[in-house]
Amino acid sequence: MFKTTLLLCSLSCLEAYKILLLAPLPVRSLNILGEGYVRHLLNAGHEVTYMSVYPPKNIPEKNFRHIDLGSTHMDLISQDDILNIGHLIRHPPAEHADIEYLQKLGFITAYTTFENEKVKKLLQDTSEQFDVVISELFESELYAALGALYECPFIWGYSMGPHWLALRLVDETTNAAYAIDYLTHNIPPFRTWAPRLFKFWTQIKWFFIKMTKVIRQERTFYKQYFEPLFAKRNKRLPEYEDVIYNASMVLSNEFPGNGLMPSVPQNFKLIGGYHIETPPKPLPQEIRTILDNAKHGFIYFSMGSTWKSKDIPKEVTQGLLEIFGALKETVIWKYEEDLQNVPKNVHILKWAPQTSILAHPNILFFITHGGLLSSIESVHFGVPVIGVPIYFDQFININRGVQRGSALGVDLSMNLPKDLKVAIDKMVKDKTFKKRAKEISSIYHDRPVLPGAELVHWVEHAVRTRGAPHLRSPASLMPWWEKMFLDIIVIIIIVIMFIVYFVKKTIKHVFESQKFVSKKKRN
Ligand SMILES: *[C@@H]1O[C@H](CO)[C@@H](O)[C@H](O)[C@H]1NC(C)=O
Repeated sequence: MFKTTLLLCSLSCLEAYKILLLAPLPVRSLNILGEGYVRHLLNAGHEVTYMSVYPPKNIPEKNFRHIDLGSTHMDLISQDDILNIGHLIRHPPAEHADIEYLQKLGFITAYTTFENEKVKKLLQDTSEQFDVVISELFESELYAALGALYECPFIWGYSMGPHWLALRLVDETTNAAYAIDYLTHNIPPFRTWAPRLFKFWTQIKWFFIKMTKVIRQERTFYKQYFEPLFAKRNKRLPEYEDVIYNASMVLSNEFPGNGLMPSVPQNFKLIGGYHIETPPKPLPQEIRTILDNAKHGFIYFSMGSTWKSKDIPKEVTQGLLEIFGALKETVIWKYEEDLQNVPKNVHILKWAPQTSILAHPNILFFITHGGLLSSIESVHFGVPVIGVPIYFDQFININRGVQRGSALGVDLSMNLPKDLKVAIDKMVKDKTFKKRAKEISSIYHDRPVLPGAELVHWVEHAVRTRGAPHLRSPASLMPWWEKMFLDIIVIIIIVIMFIVYFVKKTIKHVFESQKFVSKKKRN
């Protein structure tokens, strides 16, 4: 009895852990995900050191330390064309993401993070110790070195679902024939061979660029940068490969009922939705009055926090205002600047408390770019969407909604006002979109525990069990050529070649000796 109590206590008695958390990408939505970790882990009583580009808001100071990366990171991508709707509306992105750009961005972000003076100071201080390191995974695996440096469990926080880029680090890559992939736009099931081949090709291309270029840069940087840090702690630098495949877990921003999911190993956890505060914060009075008074309901329009409505070309903006003005419904548009000649039923918000707006009972639907957070939030609140995807995973997010009947997709083009009008009319008339959105939302909410509680549980579990080795996939423990039986195939080929060689030799020998015998006889 005493023993059981002791065991239970060792498993569940509150112990505060020291946690190092990284969200180094200068992308707002990824920082919102990072803040979700901060909030839940602080609430659970842990001590959090958080490196991020944007300082978190409304976080208690107790047990919390922020390392601000803003000075070095803020401008890493802010000037890039892919973040400008005005550019993309005229030059639609190719059918697949620019892989080389993404990998470079991943490496440069990691490099810039480690070269940041505040980060350097922290890592050089040998009195610092952590019980677990959690880092966002975006294309580069360099951050895994921190788990090895502090000799503690290392966890990836992944902003998307079970994608092969994350799975390959803890299990294996998924089958390109049927797995969903944000690097391409199409989603399975594929009815023709072309998208299947295209996906396979994209996957090969990614590996080719990584293996021939980027991983070399990463390995060189790892050696140069981390060797002195390990030496300072009287440790030898482990092999880079032993470090990057050593993650205890991946915590994925995906909810279990989202469908089209490949099988995942035990240490791949789906905690999507944890960043949403429940209940949502009350709306500011001014916005609340508008929404309460929307007699015919309201439509919420936002292109997210990374892409800006203000970059939409002027003529398209005018066209949008015209079609919105002709509606009897109220329209809430998140637009980052002042706008002239706004119709009476259209309200411009420079900043929008999105989850609180989505939670309002008068909402009809959400016009969105389909980013990962907006997509999960629309599912959380059961709101149907009209998606205007711009880049990255937004295409598959919207295509998924279209496939399950809770969304309509519209292309980003100079024709946007006309196309959007068609979609709006359809969604206003057809009530099945709303019904499907509510059904999917009830699947999303039908989980044994809240995602935030699960987040805390798995982080603590990794610490308590020293890296949760029992959850690891055996596939992560062997090299790819062993998994594909290549060693055995090579041996079999060699053996067969030997046999063929000997049989040939013997036949030739027998044949020749017979010739010899028959020659002798004749003689
Ligand atoms: C691998 O992970 C364990 C804990 O999960 C950690 O103690 C160890 O230092 C890590 N080793 C390397 C080489 O990363």
